[in-house]
Amino acid sequence: MTAPFDLILAGATVVNHDGAGIRDIGIRDGRIAGLDNLAKAKTREILDVRGLHILPGVIDSQVHFREPGLTHKEDLETGSRAAVMGGVVGVFEMPNTKPLTTTAATLSAKVAAARDRMFCDFAFYVGGTRENIGDIPALEKLEGSAGIKVFMGSSTGDLLVDDEPHLDRIVSAISRRAAFHAEDEARLIARMPLRRPGDPTSHPEWRDPEAALIATQRLVRLAEKHRRRVHVLHISTAEEIAFLGAHRDWASVEVTPHHLTLTAPDCYERLGTYAQMNPPVRDLRHRDALWAAIADGTADVLGSDHAPHTREEKDHAYPASHSGMTGVQTLVPIMLDHVNAGRLSLARLVDLTSHGPARLFGLAGKGRIAMGYDADLTIVDLTRTETITNAQALSRCGWTPYDGTKVKGWAVGTFVRGHRAMWQGELAARAHGQPIRFHEAG
Ligand code: DOR
Repeated sequence: MTAPFDLILAGATVVNHDGAGIRDIGIRDGRIAGLDNLAKAKTREILDVRGLHILPGVIDSQVHFREPGLTHKEDLETGSRAAVMGGVVGVFEMPNTKPLTTTAATLSAKVAAARDRMFCDFAFYVGGTRENIGDIPALEKLEGSAGIKVFMGSSTGDLLVDDEPHLDRIVSAISRRAAFHAEDEARLIARMPLRRPGDPTSHPEWRDPEAALIATQRLVRLAEKHRRRVHVLHISTAEEIAFLGAHRDWASVEVTPHHLTLTAPDCYERLGTYAQMNPPVRDLRHRDALWAAIADGTADVLGSDHAPHTREEKDHAYPASHSGMTGVQTLVPIMLDHVNAGRLSLARLVDLTSHGPARLFGLAGKGRIAMGYDADLTIVDLTRTETITNAQALSRCGWTPYDGTKVKGWAVGTFVRGHRAMWQGELAARAHGQPIRFHEAG
């Protein structure tokens, strides 16, 4: 006799590798143990989820949770609360904390601080620097390591590798897929006079499409030379999409909901410095190209680039205002709204947020609703209409660029390895976050 399930989620439309269909999901010991009509199965508990859709747990492969050192903006606990409230089961967190995450010690301190304190599962990028190139093979292998992240252009924090000899050495040293912020530092410095004090509409003029394209082309050239996998974060321009679409072998592509949803100049007129991020939100021509990349498969994953800053930091006059906006809690509802508007299919969303991360980063046991996989599930109500507000924002900074935005489609449940991290807007009392496991680490 097989053991009873711990929980059966009964009657939802399950969206997985098989398409979309009504199936029951049986969970035992945190894993998917049944996927069928389970009406006759023994179980400790049943949840009736008829009318809802169950997606493989959404992985947000780019967030900044600011701990240690910048916890006035966010910490691992507050950021992960926002994540699971928005339907996100796992995050890859960025190394521009204080101290920077660039060593085995700073990485293991983050893992220790996150375990059973974060509400979602987690991995931490290790910043690639000029100094730690020799350590890269070891840093890539550590428990909780998402691999190496490099800033090729300056953004928030002190991580920067802008010279080709060091970039060449880093790319040749990696064996896992490494992530890059691709903006060309020399061009950014040369164009600084184009910033108009008090006018954030000059942000995309300063950090122009050419700055992004130069860096992306340099990076892909190095990746092809060394036959290494690189992941180009937050692609923002039509020119990069065209280039990356013709260079698929070694480079993968992230786009953000912000770049797909907001447009210049409108966003700067409406939101001022609250729309300021790096690389910038640009005009409609670029946004259309990002949507074309969603349609034709050039885009591999979505990352929110959740980058919280306090209102005080955002309220400085441009360009002293900080770059970045929150996004981890709104990724799913904003994208479901796009699904409902017919801009992408639910299957494509799952490809971007679950299958894509699993394929690119080699996740063990995640990213798929299939027997034996972690019971990581994002449960959504495609028919529910809600208005996103600052008051809902669980990020410590307490604001979202989508305040007042009406969306159709809402996350109503987040299961992380079978734990109910959020259900119908209620957060779990206890956090159970654990390091995401990778085939090429640990
Ligand atoms: O706008 C941004 N904010 N872009 C980045 O690359 C970093 C981020 C942050 O950490 O604030």
